[in-house]
This record gives sequence, structure tokens and C-alpha cells, in this order.
Amino acid sequence: MTPKTFKIKSFGCQMNVYDGERMAELLGGRGMSAARDGEDADLVVLNTCHIREKAAEKAYSDVGRLRREDGSKPLIALAGCVAQAEGAEAQRRSPMIDIVVGPQAYHRLPEMVDQVVHGARPVDTDLPPLSKFDAFPQRRRANPSAFLTVQEGCDKFCTYCVVPYTRGAEVSRPFDDIVAEAHQLVDTGAREIVLLGQNVNAWAHDGRGLAELIRTLAKADGLERIRYTTSHPVNMSDELIAAHAEVEKLMPYLHLPVQSGSNRVLKAMNRSHTAETYLATIEKMRAARPDIAISGDFIVGFPGETEADFDATLQIVDAVRYASAYSFKYSARPGTPAATMEDQIPREIMDDRLQRLQARISQHSLAFNQSKVGTDTRILIERKGRHAGQMIGKSPWLQSVHVDTEAEAGELMDVTLLAAGPNSLTGAALWKAAA
Ligand code: 5AD
Ligand code: SF4
Repeated sequence: MTPKTFKIKSFGCQMNVYDGERMAELLGGRGMSAARDGEDADLVVLNTCHIREKAAEKAYSDVGRLRREDGSKPLIALAGCVAQAEGAEAQRRSPMIDIVVGPQAYHRLPEMVDQVVHGARPVDTDLPPLSKFDAFPQRRRANPSAFLTVQEGCDKFCTYCVVPYTRGAEVSRPFDDIVAEAHQLVDTGAREIVLLGQNVNAWAHDGRGLAELIRTLAKADGLERIRYTTSHPVNMSDELIAAHAEVEKLMPYLHLPVQSGSNRVLKAMNRSHTAETYLATIEKMRAARPDIAISGDFIVGFPGETEADFDATLQIVDAVRYASAYSFKYSARPGTPAATMEDQIPREIMDDRLQRLQARISQHSLAFNQSKVGTDTRILIERKGRHAGQMIGKSPWLQSVHVDTEAEAGELMDVTLLAAGPNSLTGAALWKAAA
């Protein structure tokens, strides 16, 4: 029977969230509708992430849980990076999976659903660059802060990472397509656009780089804020840094993963930057935009990481004074070079280092947030808070700000920042900025 309702569950990174939105629009365009919360869907798409441990196992157990009490099941599509990595093997391991669709083949999803209705069990994990974007319909509804994928894939081959295998080579979407999609997003409610890519600052098309793209987008009426993520240190060009000094709509926030503070470990990770070159980039950025909030990613327990290496990581955290950062225990990913390196680090040591790293990061996050207390700033209201009458907005530095207000999602408002914790601040309304 042809499915009438669908549910898409996205895990992992923001690019999966973006892909999930596009799949929803695509299925919506074929006459299907999103199942309401708590309602059983005829089609369930699990949009999976493969970056860290037990990703595949988790996906299979999520599939298993889709069996209904009466023994029936929805039509199930395994999508995302686990689908890409597992391919047809997925259906051998779990016969409940009807469709296996990799991240570059989403545009074929409606057609694959038709094939299932006719008794097939289609698998598509080809990596043709970008054709999926051409097949997606126009954007029809955008969040106040909307994601826009401009670049996909990675050629960097960090030795721990599966992305080059699951998302394929670095490919940039054409300039005009991105500008057109940005305008659609603004026309349908976006006030902020977050440009997405695994190596977003490597975006390049027809001789243009990300800085030029940002300068062009900044001219769009109605678009108030621009952000981009995730950047690689080696692609942090002077033009992009200069854009932070000059483009008012470009927010003072940079997510620039360093992974480790030890040059020995960075070399083994094949990161192609050192602690010193990374710090020099941060310094240039701060010279251009003194108030910039720096965020990062860290891996603890990479094979061979000594206590001295880990100490170098703590030192770089202190040197950068991160406004926020994500840290992860190293997870051996099948097929990556690091998985077979000697001297894998025992779990207890990783646990201990992760805890110490997170405590240190948290001190800096708190200090950064506290440095804003007592100042006035403008926030973009994004969603309702936990309490009645409370809304949550984002500051220019991507801090979550809780405020009691009647303002609605999508409005910009000026607030005084009253108090800070490591993860958020509270503010009080000053007045409502022009909506
Ligand atoms: N183990 C742990 N963390 C990883 N990341 C990527 N691959 C691994 C892995 N194998 C982290 C990196 C990256 C973030 C998205 O996930 O820090 O920047
Ligand atoms: Fe993975 Fe490194 Fe590419 Fe980032 S730059 S996606 S960590 S291989």
C-alpha cells in the first residue's frame, strides 16, 4: 500500500537535519504528509550518523523498535551515513529494512518508495556529486534560523574519521543555486542562515570563495544574520577573516575544531595544521573581530596519546579560551587508518581525560558567558522556553538566552543580560527591535 504519512528521524550533525528537512519537503511534494507527534507513520526514515561508536548497532536496534505490537511494521528507509557505510548488508542484517538510501541519493526516495510498493527492496549508495540538490523542490517554510548546505564531503582524510568514506569527496554547490535557495528561505521566514558543509570554508565555485558568497548573501533584504559551520583550520583564508571585520550580518562566532593540542597527535591524525598555526589563525581572527566567540571540537584518547599530549590539549584550551567546545572520546571506526594503530587507549583513561577536558572547557564557557552579563545585546527568538511566557533566543555569539517576553519566534529583540551559566544566559527585554 502506498504510504500516506511519514516520519523522519535525524541523528548526528546539522547536515543531517538539513537533509531531513529536504526529504520531508520532497515527500510532501508527492502528496504524503508528516505524521503528527505520537501518531504511527506509514513510512519511517531513519537518517543516521556514523561518526562515533556503535552507530550501526544503534541504527539496527532503532529499526527493531519500529515493530508494532500487532507484529506489523511501517515501511522503513535506512538513510544517512550508516546506510552509506552498510549498503546492501543492512538488509541482510535486518530484513525489516525496505530501503537503503545514502546521503547523496535522497532525491530518489519517492521513487524508491514506489518500488517497495511493487515488491522491490531498493538500495542506492552511489555518490554522484550534488544531483540531489537539483531534484529537491523549492523551500516552502523556514525556521527563523535556517540551515543551508553549500558544500558536502571531505578530502582531508583525518585518520580517525569516516566522513570522506560516507559523504564522499569535497563538492561545492554552485553560487547561483545557493543564492536562490537563500532567498527562498528568507521569503519563507528565515532571519538567519547557517551555511553548512563538512569543510564549509573550503567552499569554492567559479573562482569565488566563501567570503564572497557571504558578502553577496549579506545584501539580501530581510536576512539579518549569517553563520557558517564547520570550518577546517587550513581553509581559514584571509578573505574570510576580513569578512568578519567588515560584514555586519556575519555573526562573531567561529567553530574551528582543533582536535588536539599536541603536534605529535595532530600529525598522527593527519590534521595538516599544528597547535602553533591554529593559534596564529585564532589571533588573526581576534585582530579582525576582537569579540569573536571561538568554538571547537576535541578528541581525547587518540591512539598513542600520552599524558603529556593530553596536557598540551588542556594548554590550547586555556590559550584559546573557548566560548564553547565539544569533546569526544576517540572511537575506532572500521576502515579508518587510526583503527589499526598501535597503543589504543584504555577506556578508563579516556573517561578520565574527557572529564578533565570538559571541566576545563566549562570554566572558559562560564567565563565567556559571564563577561556578557550587564551588557545589552540583540537576540533572535527561536523557540518557546520551558516555562510559560518564556522564549529562547540566540545572541550574536550563539549563546542561548532565556527571556520572558511576548515576542514570537523569528523576532529580533534587544535584551539586557542578567545572569550566566556555562550553557545559557537569562535576559530581560529592553524593547522590541523592528520585526
Ligand atoms: N572518534 C571520536 N570523535 C570523532 N570525531 C570524528 N571522528 C571521530 C572518531 N572516530 C569528532 C571530531 C569531529 C566531530 C564532528 O566528531 O571531533 O570534529
Ligand atoms: Fe573528518 Fe577530518 Fe574531514 Fe573533518 S576534516 S570531516 S574530521 S576527515
